[in-house]
Formats: sequence, structure tokens, C-alpha cells
Amino acid sequence: MNEISLFNAFRAAGQTQVFAFWDSLNTSQREALLLQMAEVDLAEVARLHRTLVLNPGAAGLNLATLLPPVCKRLPEHGGDTVAWAHAESAGESMLRAGRVAAFTVAGGQGTRLGYDGPKGTFAVTPVKRKSLFQVFAEKIAAAGLRYGRPLHWFIMTSHANHEQTEAFFAEHRFFGLDRARVHFFRQGRMPATDFAGKILLETTHSLALSPDGHGGSLRALHRSGALDLLQSEGVDTISYFQVDNPLVRCIDPAFLGFHALSGSEMSSKMVPKANPEEKVGLFCQLDGRLVVVEYSDMPVAMQREINSAGSLRYDASNIAVHLLDREFVRRLSRADAAGGTTLPFHRADKKIATVDAAGNPVKPGQSNGVKFEMFVFDALPFARNPLLLETRRADDFSPLKNAEGADSPQSARDDQLRQAARWLRTAGVDVTTDTSGLPSISIEISPLFATDVASFIKAWRRLPQKPTLVHGLYLE
Ligand code: UD1
Repeated sequence: MNEISLFNAFRAAGQTQVFAFWDSLNTSQREALLLQMAEVDLAEVARLHRTLVLNPGAAGLNLATLLPPVCKRLPEHGGDTVAWAHAESAGESMLRAGRVAAFTVAGGQGTRLGYDGPKGTFAVTPVKRKSLFQVFAEKIAAAGLRYGRPLHWFIMTSHANHEQTEAFFAEHRFFGLDRARVHFFRQGRMPATDFAGKILLETTHSLALSPDGHGGSLRALHRSGALDLLQSEGVDTISYFQVDNPLVRCIDPAFLGFHALSGSEMSSKMVPKANPEEKVGLFCQLDGRLVVVEYSDMPVAMQREINSAGSLRYDASNIAVHLLDREFVRRLSRADAAGGTTLPFHRADKKIATVDAAGNPVKPGQSNGVKFEMFVFDALPFARNPLLLETRRADDFSPLKNAEGADSPQSARDDQLRQAARWLRTAGVDVTTDTSGLPSISIEISPLFATDVASFIKAWRRLPQKPTLVHGLYLE
């Protein structure tokens, strides 16, 4: 679109405030503003204002019709051991056939952690202080080595952290991965509006744009050409995980196998809720469809509800690990581009930095507008045969969200130490721990040594000389 048609489109949409300072801008400021204006889907902005701001009730959830979800349980919770073994070998065949790629969403701001940098660069392991990105890189490398097919890895960044993320990988030589198989792309952005639906300016020559949420990753996979690349490489399954979870089994054969054997287009892993107040999304069934309801959208009484067996009625926590069928993502993205029914946007009222009528910066003390985000789990109701699988928290989920307390660097470190101690004990090694399983010395096991307890036992047995555990231990 050229300058004139952009102006006309914004004028027709009643958004002339975005060029209020046009006459005082220099050429490069004008160019920057025009580029941002071209990014905006004005019809989408108008629709979101209508549906989420003017008429928010219509988008609400009917909690009265919620039910607990159907879930495939672990063998220790009644799951079928034979089915688990069968799924694992089916998943291994998929990996041997090169049908799987890894996908990390890393566009978030990490505000709660209070870390100044892309979250994936945070040093998270107990002994070597490896970054989250290095931990994932080693897990992905290990799967490639074990199954003889190196995996492609896609990393979704944001406009704010893209360059820093790429530079970090370059500086660390891609952690030994083939750089031709590591792909970065930026997620999309959405303009913030005031409560009257007017797009806010961040400065006199820039719009208040913010990331479109991890649900934007589906559009971005399509737009970036990732889906075409996957197709040309014979990859049909995308293993999606968040940047904040050092324990994640990002390449999990049993999960892959169950997903493929049930003909699912999107599958998710859950763990039983740690406590009724845990701040996680919950898998539920709504009108026969699998959905995630955020804890903030579920009344506390419902979060605490007990079933006839005496356990939490809604206990299926979302750990944000999903498998996505490549063509399912394409179908949703195409429908999206054609204006069809796809992922809904969620509204968040925020304090949005802007400018006053004279162009001076304003930092509001209370919410002055609305940001719009999509969530990836909202794709579940669109998927054929969505599958929900239970996994073990201790081996799959220890998120890094806060600077202190629950879900912090300390708890993530402790959970990694407990896992290492558990694996050593299962291999018959005497490890001193406290009652929570925390060892008295620091132990770290590289994913290149083992990625689960079974591979750990094998690798440990193969060691010609067993290391002592006096001053801590690092295994690679
Ligand atoms: C999320 C889930 C919650 C789940 C929990 C598990 C939502 C709304 N909720 O909560 O159901 O139980 O994780 O840990 O997602 N991201 C982007 N781009 C964005 C926004 C986020 O890439 O625009 C990425 C972040 O980098 C991060 C992930 O998405 O990897 C999660 O984002 P975050 O906002 O931290 O989710 P939570 O509220 O913690």
C-alpha cells in the first residue's frame, strides 16, 4: 500500500489520530510510521473493539457447561502399560523417519522474572549455569543423535528480543547444532487502542504495538515460510514448548506416538495440579470440546471443587507443551488470512505509554487502553481428535516465571537437582537427599548424557569408571 492509500484507509477507519504529528516529522520518522501503519489490519482492530470492548459479555465463557477433560493417564495412575509402550515405539519410528521438528515460543517479555534480556538466555542449570536455550539445544541434539535424524528447531522471537536472541546463538556457535537447522522468526504485533477503539501512539512517530501472544505463533509459522520448509523436509509434526521450562521433555516419543496413533491434529500434555491455587491454565471440556481455562477466569470455588474420589475435579494443569500437525497449522492460518473463524483474541487492559496532544510522553497511572493477544491452546477446539496426555511433573515441568518463591530460578534449580538425584538412585547410586529429594551436593546431567531415566540407566552402566559424588557431579 502506498502512502496515500494508507492515509485513506486510516481516515476511513476513523484512525486519523495516528498522523496527528505528521507535519512535524522528518523523512525517516515518516517512513517508520508508514511501515508500522502498513502492519495494521484495520478491519481486525475494529472487530476486536466491537466484540471485546463494546460487547465483552458475548465473548465470555459459559462456566456452567464446563466438565473435566478426558485424559490418557500414566501407567501408575491407571493408564494401559502396553499402550504406553506401543506409543513410545511409534514415536521413535517418527523420529527415525525425520517427521518431527522442535518449536520454542520465546517472544515473551519475562517481566515477572525481572531479567533484562531474552528469557532463553537466562542461566538456569545448577552446575554449569547453562542457559535455557543451551538446555533445549542439547535435548534436541540428543534426540537427533539417538534417532539418526537431526531435527529442525524453530524459535519464535519478538521484535524486542529478536536481534539479541540471534546474537546469543551466534556467540555460542549454536551450541553445536547445525545452524542451517535452527530458524528464528519474529512474531506478529497488534496495535493497542484506547477504550474508544483509537489506536494509541507510543511516540509522535510510532504506534503502540505489542506482541500478538503465543497464539500468533501459528500465523507466524505460516508467514515465515516454516510450514513450507517443513513440508519439503518431510516433517509433519511440530513439537511446541515454552522458553521458560528447563525440565521440558521437548522431544517425547510416547507423546508423539499417542498423537499419531489417535489421528490427532493437536495434542497437549497435562500434569495434576500441585495445589488448588496453582496459577496455571486448566484443561476442561466445554460443549464436548477440549479447551483451556486460565486460572484467572475460573472462580476460586470451582478451582477447589472436589470430585467423588476425593481429588480436585479440575486437576489437569496446562504445562504448555503441545504437538501440532503441520497441515492443521496451515489450515488455521489460511482460514485466518481469509477472515474465517480462527483463534479468538483476548483483551487485557493495560497502562500503555503514549503521548499527549502536544506530543509529550505520558506514563499513565492506571489502565488507559487495551492490548490484544491470542493463545495457542485456543486452537484445540478446532483440532480433529485432540488428545490430552498425562505426564510426570518432576520430569517435564518446572517453569521459570518469578524472581523469587514458586516458579523461580531457585525452584527450577532445585527441581533439576531432584531429578538428577532420582535418576542416580534409580541406577542404584547412593545419594544423600533431604525429605524433598534435594541432594546435599550439586549434580547436573547434560541432556547429551541422558534425557530420561531409562537412557540415564543405560548411559550410567556404560561408564567404565563411575565418578564419585563427594564434591558434586557433572555428567556429559
Ligand atoms: C502460560 C499459560 C498457562 C500455563 C502456563 C504454564 C497463557 C495465557 N497461559 O502462562 O495456561 O499453565 O503458561 O507455564 O499462556 N510468549 C510469546 N509471545 C507472546 C507471549 C508469550 O512467545 O506474545 C511465550 C513466552 O515467551 C513464554 C510463553 O509464551 O514462553 C508463556 O507466556 P507467559 O505469558 O509467560 O504465560 P503464563 O502466563 O506464564
